[in-house]
Amino acid sequence: MTGAEEDWTLIARACAKVSESRLWRMHEEMAAFGAIPGPGVNRQAFSAEDIAARRAMLAWLKPYGFEIFVDDIANLFIRRAGRNPDLPPVTTGSHMDSQPRGGRFDGIYGVLAGIEVLFALEDAGLATEHPLEVVAWSNEEGSRFAPGAMGSMVYSGARRLDEVLDSQDGDGVVLRDALAATLAATPQARPRALGSPAAAYIEAHIEQGPLLEQQATTIGVVTGIQGTRWFSVELRGESAHAGTTPLAVRRDAFQAAVAVVNELNALVAAEPEDLRFTIGRFDVGPNTPNSVADRVSFSIDMRHPDAALVRRVGDAIMRLCDGERLGCRLSIVENFNRPPCAFAPDIVDAVEAAARLLGESHLRLASGAFHDALFMNDICPTGMIFVPCERGISHNPAENAAPADLAAGARVLLATLAGLATTHA
Ligand code: HGY
Ligand code: MN
Ligand code: MN
Repeated sequence: MTGAEEDWTLIARACAKVSESRLWRMHEEMAAFGAIPGPGVNRQAFSAEDIAARRAMLAWLKPYGFEIFVDDIANLFIRRAGRNPDLPPVTTGSHMDSQPRGGRFDGIYGVLAGIEVLFALEDAGLATEHPLEVVAWSNEEGSRFAPGAMGSMVYSGARRLDEVLDSQDGDGVVLRDALAATLAATPQARPRALGSPAAAYIEAHIEQGPLLEQQATTIGVVTGIQGTRWFSVELRGESAHAGTTPLAVRRDAFQAAVAVVNELNALVAAEPEDLRFTIGRFDVGPNTPNSVADRVSFSIDMRHPDAALVRRVGDAIMRLCDGERLGCRLSIVENFNRPPCAFAPDIVDAVEAAARLLGESHLRLASGAFHDALFMNDICPTGMIFVPCERGISHNPAENAAPADLAAGARVLLATLAGLATTHA
């Protein structure tokens, strides 16, 4: 038997130890943290629900003796020792936080699939040359504290921690304080420096789109992530009495916002149909029926796979949202700007080879959603594995995935990680 065949025999032995029921049970337990009807979750970054989920997860892991680390933005690292502790870890993971009305699989699947890989290797009694690490990234969604992918963004050095500490949520809670409470909740975790090296990073995630289901395919071999730009637009007018103030003299921030949104929609309508443009947050003040609005702020999320188009359309949005409309001051701030990324070809090939060797149907695709892999791709060879979700629905409590698909993704993840980390009996 050649070395490669022997390696594969060992890896196949570990893949056979991936437990569909154990992985599903972990999802059910995690879904209790922030449970909302749907059935979904509201487990936003650094919230009480996020903290409780972190503590529960570390309690599950305690009997296994894995080392636990945490960095300054509360990214959690679960480490299974390798034969050679001096080698950088082969890493996997995803995020534990959710959208305010999120699903039971977005993000958390990648963390739990990584933990299932560690359990399966323990059950199979296999060692790896490199340490293996599972990361639970902080604040990937950016729904409470913008921008998204904050934990991996700071970890990889794309943004400094001090640049985000003063951001506030909708209730005026400052990130610095919510982060301090989160860090205090896992005292057993040892410190980990931001930007510590990884030999490779592979993230498992639900597709959050319909392609795999439409193609009756189990594994998505992800080739990269499209470009994304986020903006916050603000209009400042003058509050006035709804009953006494003639329309002609008003500086109505809401009417000005409507005019700006109509101009933005006209701009987007001239672009290719695969451009993604979303206004998901829209705040009006003072937000009473009988006062003219004196301030409006709204979000813009714009995405496309072509770097030049992302630059051009994003810059056009910034030019449009500057100056004045209907007597109101109009301003825009950009708080996220990432061009499209391509994953490391040898990692993409390794994921595809693992799916093929395991006999799982698979296809190559790019990701429309961003992920923490977007930032890990800056510092190490990176790839992703998708599994189907029902009707491609995500960022919705109705998000759903099949236990068998989740387990298949975990087996492909194990085979990919174990191959990169070199496995021994
Ligand atoms: O917005 C995104 O693409 C990610 O799902 N948070
Ligand atoms: Mn996600
Ligand atoms: Mn998400």
